[in-house]
Amino acid sequence: MGAGANNAGRRIFSGIQPTGRKHLGNYIGAIRQYVAGQDGAAAADEAIFCIVDLHATTVAYDPADLRERLYDTTAILLAAGLDPDRCVLFRQGDVREHTELTWLLGAVTAWGDLNRMHQWKAKRELAEGKSGAFVPASLFNYPILMAADVLAYRATEVPVGDDQRQHVELMREIARRFNERFGETLVVPEHRIPAVGARVMDLQDPTSKMSTTGGSEAGTVYVLDEPDRIRGKLKGAVTDSGREVRRGGPGGGKEGIENLIEILCVARGVGPEQVEAEFEGSGYGDFKAAVGDAVVEFLTPVRERYAELRADPAELERALAAGAVKARALCGPVLADVREAMGVAGPRER
Ligand code: TYM
Repeated sequence: MGAGANNAGRRIFSGIQPTGRKHLGNYIGAIRQYVAGQDGAAAADEAIFCIVDLHATTVAYDPADLRERLYDTTAILLAAGLDPDRCVLFRQGDVREHTELTWLLGAVTAWGDLNRMHQWKAKRELAEGKSGAFVPASLFNYPILMAADVLAYRATEVPVGDDQRQHVELMREIARRFNERFGETLVVPEHRIPAVGARVMDLQDPTSKMSTTGGSEAGTVYVLDEPDRIRGKLKGAVTDSGREVRRGGPGGGKEGIENLIEILCVARGVGPEQVEAEFEGSGYGDFKAAVGDAVVEFLTPVRERYAELRADPAELERALAAGAVKARALCGPVLADVREAMGVAGPRER
């Protein structure tokens, strides 16, 4: 059996939802790790990135709009530095193995585990809150599809932000349960959560994560925001009544400043001590202005490159189609092993 342990190198896999409104949290917590994963990949490694259109159908959406937003996200990823010649970049819906594996993994996924997922609880509440809301079954099954995304490639590492920790824990459990029940077939992946920037907070409510669905417009910096807008949002960031630019630790009441320190650290590539030393004695106003400038400098090249790439959707489509061919070549044999281990479909031709 082609057990995953035979993989010669590391396999990095991550997924991202198709929305054109990718924010600084997505960029810092995830996209920049994707690029680092691709750039650090050795010859035997694979870096695989998937734009998850099937996951996007679990909430209310418009079909024509989904395609457009998928191109937006593809262009953002390419603008950030993903190179389709050096990684596998593809659209989830193009590779049917993901949906097949979702069904099969349902056999080793506990209903109770799905029911415990924080994201399920939050999104279910959101759907129920809208009058006459309908809660689709696919919202409940979302984490199985996410497990299938990763396990179909025998990925070893999953770079994600902190909010995906529970989903990665569940996919590890699903892989372990599969191997116990059907024999060593799947690889149990590790999450890769960055030390700094794993949870970028909303600028208007620094106790909640920056998010497209739950956050405030003024508290969310989008990758494609114009410079003046970015500076304005940082200038208006909620802080505290003190004056010191330093971290406060959990419950220290300095969540706003701490978040800005983290953002500045990532944008400038420095450590928090350096930031604290530089801004010792300066007021919050100067500090916020410096963070605004640094974020503008950090995101401007991405926004400019995005505009060029997004203008040519046919080229984006070509890149995605080529990525899907590479993805199928990688996950097809894993699916054949899974079918064989589970005894479904006819025996494999040798
Ligand atoms: P999505 O599209 O919501 O988010 C993409 C990535 O951005 C990270 N992220 C953040 N990081 C830091 N601070 C924040 N405020 C913040 N908000 C979001 C997320 O952790 C994520 O890494 N379910 C996934 C998509 C997915 C996936 C997968 C991920 C589908 N299949 C397989 C990994 C492996 C999601 O909705 O991400």
